[in-house]
Amino acid sequence: MAAERFGALPPMGWNSWNTFTWDISEALLRDVADIFVSEGYKAAGYEYIVIDDCWSLKQRDEAGNLVPDPAKFPSGMKALSDYIHAKGLKFGMYSCVGTHTCAGYPGSFEHEFQDAAQFAEWGVDFLKYDYCYKPKQINGALLYKRMSLALKNCGRDILFSACNWGADDVFLWIHETGAHMYRSTLDIQDNWESVKRLAISQLDKACYTGAYRHNDMDMLIVGIYGGSNNGWIGHIQGGCTDTEYKTHFSLWALMGSPLMIGCDVRNANQTAKNILLNRDILAINQDIECRGVYRLEPDWFNTEEVFILVKTLSTGELAIGFFNLSDEQKALSVSFWDLGLPYSSGISLSLYDCWAHEDMGTYQQQAAPIVPAHDCVVVRAKLNKS
Ligand code: GLA
Repeated sequence: MAAERFGALPPMGWNSWNTFTWDISEALLRDVADIFVSEGYKAAGYEYIVIDDCWSLKQRDEAGNLVPDPAKFPSGMKALSDYIHAKGLKFGMYSCVGTHTCAGYPGSFEHEFQDAAQFAEWGVDFLKYDYCYKPKQINGALLYKRMSLALKNCGRDILFSACNWGADDVFLWIHETGAHMYRSTLDIQDNWESVKRLAISQLDKACYTGAYRHNDMDMLIVGIYGGSNNGWIGHIQGGCTDTEYKTHFSLWALMGSPLMIGCDVRNANQTAKNILLNRDILAINQDIECRGVYRLEPDWFNTEEVFILVKTLSTGELAIGFFNLSDEQKALSVSFWDLGLPYSSGISLSLYDCWAHEDMGTYQQQAAPIVPAHDCVVVRAKLNKS
């Protein structure tokens, strides 16, 4: 099979915003690149290292160019991208459709082609493009089309990551603009209520995700534990438990979201690493066909907070996530009939537990794992002929 083109699969990487917001530097990004290689993130498939907002000076130069803040990036962006590329990784940056970025730095409005050329010159591979300070009279889709055209004609492959927070029914029009992924939610916060709210808000949007059109549910909070320097994202919120981070990661992976790590990987504990580097979960997210999940028809247990998601995999297997976002333990049962297996077929399913990393045995007609509060069970199900 031909290698897929960039952007076909949900991008995986790291983004500076969730933990560091304004407090970014070339030293930090170089450290992240080193750790991606030395601690197995690169080997697991994480490749984009992305600087978010607050990287430039507050004014463009006389020629109208964006200027990296010399206090944060004294060696300049080309040197940083060279460093990241030498590690076999990719480099991402951030700008905005409007006159300013969300944190008040210059945006790319009416500078789209100039900025895209600049990003290409710096060796950028990924551009996150925000929605703040959008001139009210101009249609948002048009502004994404502008930057998309600029990127596609800048002479370099640059993955285009739209970020309009789900506004203006973005799922209906973003794909035609040329973006590879699009933010579909308001900003994540490092707490359980936020994870729940974002996941539930996207359950009816699964049909819009797919290859080159990834529904971005926002950067991951796994491993932050309340350690963001931004009170709104994090330390006031207090973080999540390990179980909640596991469930958050499973939801984002099954629902086809890009997986952009948001914690300080320099200090990630072993539990956070085990979650982020879980190859069985990553394989579901990176399945070559990128099918959206379907939610099993309402059953007696099925509420807004308790549900089963199923993803059809290219291998003919099914990935099944039993999610219990409620505060009490539940048994969640799946009848194989509802997966498309008539009882008359005699087909059984061998289940493999993607968190315990072990076979669960062979099941006829149904399976009903017990799922503790805020937890999930994710299995890979293989069909066996009788
Ligand atoms: C918006 C985006 C965030 C982040 C900030 C930066 O809020 O949704 O992901 O990029 O802007 O200011």
